[in-house]
Amino acid sequence: MRILVLSDLHSNASALDAVLDAAKDRWDISVCLGDVVGYGPDPNEVTARLRKLATHTIRGNHDKAVTGLMPTDDFNPVAKSAVDWTRAQLKPEHLAWLSALPPGPLARDGVVLVHGAFQDEDEYVFTPAQALDGLLDSTAPVTFFGHTHHQGGFSYQDAQLEVLQIHPRPSESFAALRIELPRRYLLNPGSIGQPRDGDPRAAFAIADLEHQVIEFWRVPYDISVVQQRMRAAHLPEPLVQRLLLGR
Ligand SMILES: [Fe+2]
Repeated sequence: MRILVLSDLHSNASALDAVLDAAKDRWDISVCLGDVVGYGPDPNEVTARLRKLATHTIRGNHDKAVTGLMPTDDFNPVAKSAVDWTRAQLKPEHLAWLSALPPGPLARDGVVLVHGAFQDEDEYVFTPAQALDGLLDSTAPVTFFGHTHHQGGFSYQDAQLEVLQIHPRPSESFAALRIELPRRYLLNPGSIGQPRDGDPRAAFAIADLEHQVIEFWRVPYDISVVQQRMRAAHLPEPLVQRLLLGR
């Protein structure tokens, strides 16, 4: 069974469409690590598409902020402004769906899903020290996380923690990682709607645990049309510009 792993869609329907086109006929079930909305111009479209896919979705901090489940005191002014805009746009049925999303960790089809850190859904995992809890405590050998918008991850075996640099080259669509059990993995598929690892292409992953391979994908999409929609919606200019930079 092949699992399509989506994360940090951030209301970017053009990026999500490019991902679903590229992944067509390559997956059996789909999961989502949260941050369905926030930042981008298409909160209703992205939520509707995800609901239609029947994706197993956990909540992210933006989903919680938009639905009022967490305060935005810790958000920077730009992010807070996008949260307020998103809340005003969302149809009541989509707001209700987002507010009912479960928190991670969630075990599903042989993998574990978390938005941020294993012990705290709102914490970032950038460093090996931050990754250790998830590698040791997760109930499955392969755990997927999001939140940082950086594709890649960590693995652990025999008290050795390894940083996995997995980035498809600009000329390539994906890079494959071979899974070697009983080694443990904490993996980030990257962000669909707002990558921050220097590659502006939309990121996702496809996991095939039976064949012990996980593909980390990047797909281009028309960023300029998303930027046009963001400017038309008067979303903050720094959010518009960072899409092109992938930072
Ligand atoms: Fe995010």
